[in-house]
Amino acid sequence: MTNTRQPGGAWSAAFASASRAAMDVYAEVMVPRMFVPWGRELLDEVALEPGEAVVDIACGPGTVTRLAAARSGPAGRVTGCDLSPAMLEIAVGRGPVENGAAIDYVEAPADRLPIADMTFDVATCQQGLQFFPDRLAALGEMRRALRPGGRIGIAVWKRIEECPPFAVLTEAIREVAGDELADRYAGGPWGMPLAEDLRTLLERAGFRDVRVADRALPITFEGGPTQLGATLAAAGVAGELEALSPQDKERLRAAVAERSRPLMANSAIRSQLASHLALARR
Ligand SMILES: C[S@@+](CC[C@H](N)C(=O)[O-])C[C@H]1O[C@@H](n2cnc3c(N)ncnc32)[C@H](O)[C@@H]1O
Repeated sequence: MTNTRQPGGAWSAAFASASRAAMDVYAEVMVPRMFVPWGRELLDEVALEPGEAVVDIACGPGTVTRLAAARSGPAGRVTGCDLSPAMLEIAVGRGPVENGAAIDYVEAPADRLPIADMTFDVATCQQGLQFFPDRLAALGEMRRALRPGGRIGIAVWKRIEECPPFAVLTEAIREVAGDELADRYAGGPWGMPLAEDLRTLLERAGFRDVRVADRALPITFEGGPTQLGATLAAAGVAGELEALSPQDKERLRAAVAERSRPLMANSAIRSQLASHLALARR
């Protein structure tokens, strides 16, 4: 059942029906600047070895999936799962990874994975858990897919204040469209900010040796506020923002530009993003 009352659940439903054009924005603007560098960090944490079998949950356009295929190499095996047909279409369209493991993509919600028990060495989930309507069931599915001793690596953003470009977008939405929409925007990706919640959830799902690290990485939007604002097209509240009047859209654009000022250097936004990286074993 989709819990659309919590913002993460509403975002999950929005991803499920997102258009190809919206997810192209995600893949072109956000993946290279944000999700590829963070994906490398996550795979370093889980110490992925050549030949290992990896399942990447909420794989999106294959960000961590493809990095994992390159690292596990031709002797490895990688499966990417996501509920968004548009994301999976982009992932499949990117073709195989040269000298990498073969990749399978599967369309499924994270709490009902159509994969066999105990068949993977490593499970990854980068910036997906916060959206799942049933997070515990999803972690249970990842645990079921792992061999005994298998490792899980989960990335979940810290508080939005520690991800300043996106705090700028939240406050610009608040100024123009009000608290409800701003809170719904921020409550999706940044809706699970506490390390303790992540640790407790992993332990309740039956994982052991749980360790939650704090990391920060730089982020640059060289296209400045316009490029940052473009990411809203891939957000779970994109439909509501698209429905604003032309005057309010212009106010939103101006608010993003004004609030980005403290982050600007040479016409680029230069800032950082902070995430928890959780590691554990089955
Ligand atoms: C922020 S994106 C992260 C994608 C990818 N891990 C990456 O690093 O680029 C979140 C992803 O979670 C997926 N997602 C959201 N709710 C989901 C659910 N209930 N089951 C499976 N995937 C879900 C979305 O479709 C989207 O691809």
